[in-house]
Amino acid sequence: MAFPTSVVAASPASHETDVLALVVREGEKLDSVDRELDGLLSRCAKEEEFTGKEGQILSLHTHGKLGAQRIAALGIGKEKDEDRTLEQLRVAACRAVKLARSVGAKSLAIAGPFETPSRVQAAAEGASLGAYVFDRYKKEKKPLKLGAVELLVPGKATRELDEAAQLGAEIAAAVCVARDLVNEPPVRATPAALAAAARKTAEEAGLECEVLGRAQIEKLGMNLFLAVARGSAEEPQLVRLSYDPPRAKGSPVALVGKAITFDSGGLSLKTAQGMEDMKTDMAGAAAVIASMRLIAAMKPPFPVRGYFGACENLPSGTAYKPGDVIVGKSGTSVEVLNTDAEGRLVLADVLAWAVEEKPAAVLDMATLTGAILVALGPWTAGLFSNDDRLAAELTAAAAATGEPVWRMPLPPEMEELIKSPVADLKNTGGRFGGAINAALFLQHFVGKVPWAHLDIAGPASLDKERGYNARGGTGAGVRLVAEWIRRRTDSVPPPARERAPARKR
Ligand code: BES
Ligand code: MN
Ligand code: ZN
Repeated sequence: MAFPTSVVAASPASHETDVLALVVREGEKLDSVDRELDGLLSRCAKEEEFTGKEGQILSLHTHGKLGAQRIAALGIGKEKDEDRTLEQLRVAACRAVKLARSVGAKSLAIAGPFETPSRVQAAAEGASLGAYVFDRYKKEKKPLKLGAVELLVPGKATRELDEAAQLGAEIAAAVCVARDLVNEPPVRATPAALAAAARKTAEEAGLECEVLGRAQIEKLGMNLFLAVARGSAEEPQLVRLSYDPPRAKGSPVALVGKAITFDSGGLSLKTAQGMEDMKTDMAGAAAVIASMRLIAAMKPPFPVRGYFGACENLPSGTAYKPGDVIVGKSGTSVEVLNTDAEGRLVLADVLAWAVEEKPAAVLDMATLTGAILVALGPWTAGLFSNDDRLAAELTAAAAATGEPVWRMPLPPEMEELIKSPVADLKNTGGRFGGAINAALFLQHFVGKVPWAHLDIAGPASLDKERGYNARGGTGAGVRLVAEWIRRRTDSVPPPARERAPARKR
């Protein structure tokens, strides 16, 4: 659900709307609107001890004294750095939408410190992300009367600001595409359905899309991928999405997503509780599909590829077994000790394919290990990289989008944990440092290409609503990738005659 979001130059006191949300910093005066209300707002604030602290809310009817029927002051706390401000604005816009929805408003205007395009974009993102519900399978849907959101700015509503609002809404719409794919039950979100979703995205966005079935995957020598897929009746699907600008500059950026549409653990079966949420094991691929849709709209000057190998991980008479030794696309042999460490096997083959095109950088996103939740908690993605510059780019992009990531090490001395007595590698490295040894395993398949791996097992899905993320799939990674690509676009100077002014942040 993305709202048409526009930027309007108007005074909050006179602007006509059902709900007027005022974004308030801690300690900030509520002057112009308060004056129109003869000081009522500041009196109420005093009574209710509203000071603008983060999370505070003060909502009242205006009884015709303002253009707005109802006003709501939303506290966002003190000013810290700009990245924090952007996140405060996303959350505030989300809260404004939720309040507007709960009172059945048809229109909402938000007044706040929307001085720069990135702040406008953040508010637009937060508004649309906060309106998301997954009620496809409910008899009773929550109707949404709210049709549009206006962001009120004091000065002029420039084209630049309006474009930023559009972009924010587009980004949110893409995030919701990923959320929908993750939330869809596994009986529907099959490997074939995921491939169909990629095809549909490609058609809508003008991308090229190749979908390869079992026979072609065999031809490519992807035996690790095929081994994981073998226990399932669903045919595995290998997907490559391509964005190629008219006069491509430089080598492509490659995105790779984990696409296990259901992870039972295979013969190393998970517990019943352990597989309750394992429909979300394709969240990496969902993020790739959604990111590619955004990239097609953002039109960077360099090519971008999106890859995923989709299959189910199930036990059966045809399933792969602990003890199997398999040689995949890269020629490296792998001893399978635990069929529940399947993600790294599929990724090994898909990464090996992706690096054949000699990309400038490859980023994989995967709900890879439970261990990353133990290390970093439920909301932070683990970032692993063989390239400090790439890691720094991704860390900065993540901070600007409010997607928490934390860089994790790839200690060479831990390689010993994934050495096998019978093959080049084994697919588990024991209980300790589980997220690290999974990443070390992947590193064997990327050669010398600058590579980063985001273990999104935590943030990909939530067991309850949090900020602008609803329960279930969050679309983790999508906004981060969009911001990363935008920054790489800005740092590649286009030919002089089509150079656009750099965006202010
Ligand atoms: N898909 C899981 C990881 C996961 C766990 C994602 C919890 C989201 C929430 C992955 O395939 C897996 O099962 N990993 C195992 C690896 C182990 C067998 C080495 C794990 O983390 O337990
Ligand atoms: Mn698993
Ligand atoms: Zn898995």
